[in-house]
Amino acid sequence: MIRVGIVGFGFMGRMHYRCWKALEGADVAALCDANADALLGSGKGQGNIAGAEGEVDLRDVAVYSDPEELFARAKPDAVSITVPTHLHAAWTIKALEAGVHVLCEKPMALTLADGKRMMEAAEKSGKVLQIGQCIRFWPEYAKAKEIVESGAYGRVISATFQRFSATAHKKKGSWFSDERQSGGMVFDLHIHDTDFIQYLFGVPASVCSHGAVTPEGGLSHLVTRYRYNDGKLVTAEGGWSMTPSFGFEMKFLIVMERAVLSFESKRTPTLKLCPSEGEAFVPQIEKGDGYSRQIGHFARTIRGEAVPQVITPGQAWTSLRIAEAERESVRKGTHVDIA
Ligand SMILES: NC(=O)c1ccc[n+]([C@@H]2O[C@H](COP(=O)([O-])OP(=O)(O)OC[C@H]3O[C@@H](n4cnc5c(N)ncnc54)[C@H](O)[C@@H]3O)[C@@H](O)[C@H]2O)c1
Repeated sequence: MIRVGIVGFGFMGRMHYRCWKALEGADVAALCDANADALLGSGKGQGNIAGAEGEVDLRDVAVYSDPEELFARAKPDAVSITVPTHLHAAWTIKALEAGVHVLCEKPMALTLADGKRMMEAAEKSGKVLQIGQCIRFWPEYAKAKEIVESGAYGRVISATFQRFSATAHKKKGSWFSDERQSGGMVFDLHIHDTDFIQYLFGVPASVCSHGAVTPEGGLSHLVTRYRYNDGKLVTAEGGWSMTPSFGFEMKFLIVMERAVLSFESKRTPTLKLCPSEGEAFVPQIEKGDGYSRQIGHFARTIRGEAVPQVITPGQAWTSLRIAEAERESVRKGTHVDIA
């Protein structure tokens, strides 16, 4: 049985709680939140994606307000680090030093230096460090990777990814709106697509980004071209100033020589493959959502099972590096080399 602790019990802490509770061979032994109120209520309607709702029965769960106390007293085998982003590095490193496996939410950290320190701590501890780049585990995105890599429909001509949220409206005044705590729109939201593009196509040679700058100097909307040297056009658009009535949406459109693969999170069916010959059809995808599949993968890795490599700390760090280059590209008004 894997004994699990959850550090930070807001929207994502509850999401991880739900996934861990549903997983056979795991038990949530302890929770921690600096704000006692976070342990109350249903958590409904806090985040972009449904699934963190529901009352939580804390009768068999040890509750702490300080993560260090949780590590020392509850002695979990593994923790989910689901605190605001500026705290990821500090609590991940402390957990690893306490001999605990860590699944830390995305983005890995706010700086490349912090990300490096997290990787060094993982190496030194010999414990597993997985970063929650959950889109790699999202069934439709995982299927897209499988279809592209199969080569069944020829090479990719163009691929475009979009991700929109109402964070700027819904989380006004919270830690999300402070770039020093969340990293702003690019690190908080758009990095999901930056990371998936790296997963699908490898590290781009350079990025060229254009963005809408807020009066405070942050970015609220951005479009990036990721340059690869084989002629395909890869772009992504992210923005968190959508209105609450628009809500959250993620999409992609991958044009291959002999098929177009399209995904829209608000459409039914969400995934559609349109081949050059024959009718469009809905590809069969894996059951479950990206969060549960990512936690299942982490649990199997801890148990020492042979799992395919989906995300390494080094790859999560490279996504930070690419996202940072995207911000730099907007600032400088020119492309920025990565490789
Ligand atoms: N993978 C995804 O799709 C996804 C979606 C949303 C958020 N996230 C990430 O998850 C993380 C948390 O986001 P959220 O939406 O859950 O935020 P949130 O504000 O809902 O929850 C954060 C919780 O951490 C608690 N906290 C703050 N400081 C603490 C401390 N020192 N010790 C213990 N608890 C502390 C807060 O009281 C709060 O309850 C962020 O890094 C965010 O980027 C990922």
